[in-house]
Amino acid sequence: MKITKAVIPAAGLGTRVLPATKVMPKEMFPIVDKPAIQYIVEEAAASGITDILIITNRGKGYIEDHFDRAPLLEQILENDGKDDLLASFQHLHKLVNIQYIRQIETKGLGHAISKAKTFVGNEPFAVLYGDDVVVGGNAPATKELIDAYGEYGKGVIGIKPVSRKMISSYSCVKIENLHDNIYKCTDMIEKPQTDDEIFSLYSILGRCVLPPEIFDILENTKPGAKNEIQLTDAMKVLANSYGMTAIEYTGTRYDIGNKFGIMKAAIEVGVEHPEIGAELRDYIKEFAKTL
Ligand code: UTP
Repeated sequence: MKITKAVIPAAGLGTRVLPATKVMPKEMFPIVDKPAIQYIVEEAAASGITDILIITNRGKGYIEDHFDRAPLLEQILENDGKDDLLASFQHLHKLVNIQYIRQIETKGLGHAISKAKTFVGNEPFAVLYGDDVVVGGNAPATKELIDAYGEYGKGVIGIKPVSRKMISSYSCVKIENLHDNIYKCTDMIEKPQTDDEIFSLYSILGRCVLPPEIFDILENTKPGAKNEIQLTDAMKVLANSYGMTAIEYTGTRYDIGNKFGIMKAAIEVGVEHPEIGAELRDYIKEFAKTL
């Protein structure tokens, strides 16, 4: 079955990057010259997604405005012959249909995803976390997950290795290699605290493809870590019963929800940027000598 729908949860409060997120959603933070959520929407479109639901919250109106037309600005750029600048955002309107729904109460990622039930209907769908940008790789990360769904017919999680120190702030998965970067996943836990709970040093980071059965599971999922309804707790039920597939996607993931992730993205994407890359490289080399 072709997967054409995606959900982007973007209703989190972004408290790890306050005060920047007091007014401005973290999803709108730029990586060089493009907001994080535009990278994510472009990745979805490049993966065959045609319809996106963005889950928002109070104060996230900038996201809707960003994907809307801007008639006055477009007219000025057109008059000035600035076609490249126009194209940098105008192409999005042709790529995908975007809808929005408000989460209203910030009760966790699982709760946010449950708001997508009507939009999704009875099809498998992709989830792209609104603060996780994936750049590069052999193919767009979501496409890699969708292909794995096609291969095994089970829900898919995107995974990456994380350090022993960090794993208790993330999730942790029990996996067994199938081939290359593809694994069978039979269990998972959100924010593991004891050695017994640490199945591996792999975490679910930013991308999943889920069957519609997840909505019934979410309805029965009680608040877990941080007293929030955790998507990991619902996916654990899937993993324990039907099994899931895990793929270590090949792109590099940047967490725009934390300070270090924002800086890393700016530097690593910046040095590859056609306009400023060379100048930034020279600057970093010079600056490094002073450290
Ligand atoms: P995070 O835990 O990384 O985001 O959620 P957060 O809640 O904004 O983080 P802090 O701790 O306050 O800094 C992962 C993803 O789930 C979304 C977030 O927007 C992010 O994309 N999310 C989280 C929701 O949509 N709703 C929620 O209730 C919680």
